[in-house]
Amino acid sequence: MENKITLQDKSFKLFIPNSEIEEAIDRLAAKMNADFSSVTDQNPPIMLCTLNGAVIFAAELLKRIEFPVVFTAMKLSSYAGTHSTGKVKAEIPAGLPDLKGRQVIVVEDIVDTGNTIVAMKELLEGMGVDKMYVSTLLLKPDVYHKDVKLDYVAMSIPNRFIVGFGLDYNELGRNIKDIYVLDQ
Ligand code: IMP
Ligand code: MG
Repeated sequence: MENKITLQDKSFKLFIPNSEIEEAIDRLAAKMNADFSSVTDQNPPIMLCTLNGAVIFAAELLKRIEFPVVFTAMKLSSYAGTHSTGKVKAEIPAGLPDLKGRQVIVVEDIVDTGNTIVAMKELLEGMGVDKMYVSTLLLKPDVYHKDVKLDYVAMSIPNRFIVGFGLDYNELGRNIKDIYVLDQ
């Protein structure tokens, strides 16, 4: 594991090693497994991964889930470079399962301003979802002031720009196993 990396014009330093991320996901999955232990395969919750950032977290979480679950994904985007544009774009895939009356566990990479999660909530309410749960690998609590409840937060971090473990800078760095922080 490198101490410093460069992506295009920016340098980043090691922030959270992979082992710590995996341990945080272990704890979060254990809590989820306890909370959803009464679910049966007659009415499994739907795990909805927000693309692209949450793809690695969602895979790691899914591997640890012990209750019946249906997996699907949707693309939501709001970031350009290192800042949120404030506008959330949603791309609804043609094969999305019918979410009406279902319990949906949204899987996010990071909750920052919360614009994405608020947009997701409105979208899911419009689709007639019974209950939305939010799970996120990371939370920037100093930035998040929305009132959507975050049910499962693996780790909280200060208001810094990070990459790795699915998170990108201009689409780069998603494949890095550890999390790095912008080195200013
Ligand atoms: P929000 O809508 O401001 O809460 O931002 C959510 C989305 O912005 C996340 O799903 C990420 O894709 C992206 N994002 C927020 N903070 C960071 C960061 O520090 N690095 C990379 N992407 C981020
Ligand atoms: Mg994202």
